[in-house]
Amino acid sequence: MKALEDRIQQEGLVLSPSILKVDSFINHQVDPAFMQLLGREIARHFQGKGVTKVMTIESSGIAPALFAAMELGVPMVILKKQNSELLKTDVLQTEVVSYTKETSYLLTMARKYISDEDHILLVDDFLANGEAATGALRLIRKTHATVAGLGVLIEKAFQPGRAKLEGQGISVFALARIGSMDESGIHFLP
Ligand code: G4P
Repeated sequence: MKALEDRIQQEGLVLSPSILKVDSFINHQVDPAFMQLLGREIARHFQGKGVTKVMTIESSGIAPALFAAMELGVPMVILKKQNSELLKTDVLQTEVVSYTKETSYLLTMARKYISDEDHILLVDDFLANGEAATGALRLIRKTHATVAGLGVLIEKAFQPGRAKLEGQGISVFALARIGSMDESGIHFLP
């Protein structure tokens, strides 16, 4: 999506050859009107594919997921990373390791918000190593719900996320695909 590539070029900061900072419009401050365009674009790609729910992982996936869900006219479910006293009974959980942040967390979903008939669209901000999405898939597989695909704003195509997900039969759609980045700039793939 040209508009997203342009915005990344204008505002993105390459912190290292593998980390892109987009805090001014995605991860810290959010540009709502622009985010709505991005969420809509993801929704349009999956329109007509029978999506009944959009699922995301807190926190930065929530903004695009909400706009995608609104466009598709379906609820959004947020998978939790924080342990909560309120989320203790009838939950599904799986451990996710974040290579980028060198941490791990217990991804948690209340069972009652996913029915066995659901067809789920996963939405997130970044696709890097694909660990977060793979964790979400593990939770979904504990039910009989099915997966329509994964929509992300930014794919770092030099990392193994897409291959990991496509290897599990998941259709991956990214609005901007970064092939490489360094001090000379950010290079997108078609
Ligand atoms: P994955 O997201 O593909 O599973 O890969 P990984 O485990 O390596 O990424 C862990 C976290 O780091 C995720 O955020 C992901 O969005 C974020 N991340 C990965 N690469 C980049 C990058 O180049 N730039 C930025 N800004 N973030 C990156 P998270 O822990 O789920 O955090 P959040 O959603 O609460 O922000």
